[in-house]
Amino acid sequence: MNGNIFLRTGVVILALGMCLGIYMGAKQDFTLAPVHAHMNLAGGVLMCIAGLFYNNRPALWGKLTTIHYGLQLVGIILLAAGIAGAHLNQKWFPPVVGAGSVLTLLAMLVFIFMVFKGTGRNTTAA
Ligand code: HEM
Repeated sequence: MNGNIFLRTGVVILALGMCLGIYMGAKQDFTLAPVHAHMNLAGGVLMCIAGLFYNNRPALWGKLTTIHYGLQLVGIILLAAGIAGAHLNQKWFPPVVGAGSVLTLLAMLVFIFMVFKGTGRNTTAA
C-alpha cells in the first residue's frame, strides 16, 4: 500500500473534525473539544504525515504500511468514540477508549519502525 489512502483518509478525518469544531462553536458547547482535537491531530494530521512520508519512500510500500493504516484507522475511530463516551458520561467508554489507545499506540510503533527503516544510512527519498 502507498501513502495515497493515508492522505485521502487524513483529509476526510480533518474535514469531519472541523465540522465538529463548527458544531461546538455554533452550539457554544465545548464538551467534545478533546474529541475534536484527537480527531484532527491523532487522526487527520498524523494520517497525512504518514501519507506524505510513504509517498516519498516507495521502497517501504507493502504489508506493513497496510497494517499501519488499519491500526491507525480503527484506533482513531475507537479512541474518538471512547473519549466522546467519557465526556458524555457513558458507561461503555473504558474498554472502547482503552482499545483505541492501544491500537493508536501500536500504529505509532509501526510508524516509528518504518521511519527508522526509511531514514537509515544509505536510504534516500524518491
Ligand atoms: C473549521 C475548523 C475548526 C473549527 C471551527 C474549530 C473549532 C474549535 C473549537 C470551538 C474548540 C474549543 C475551544 C474551547 O474549548 O474554548 C477547538 C479546540 C481545539 N481545536 Fe479546533 N477547530 C477547527 C480546526 C482545528 C484543526 C485543523 C485542529 C488541529 C489540526 C484543531 C485543534 C484543536 C485543539 C488541539 C483544540 C483544543 C482542544 C481542547 O482544549 O480539549 N482544530 N476547536
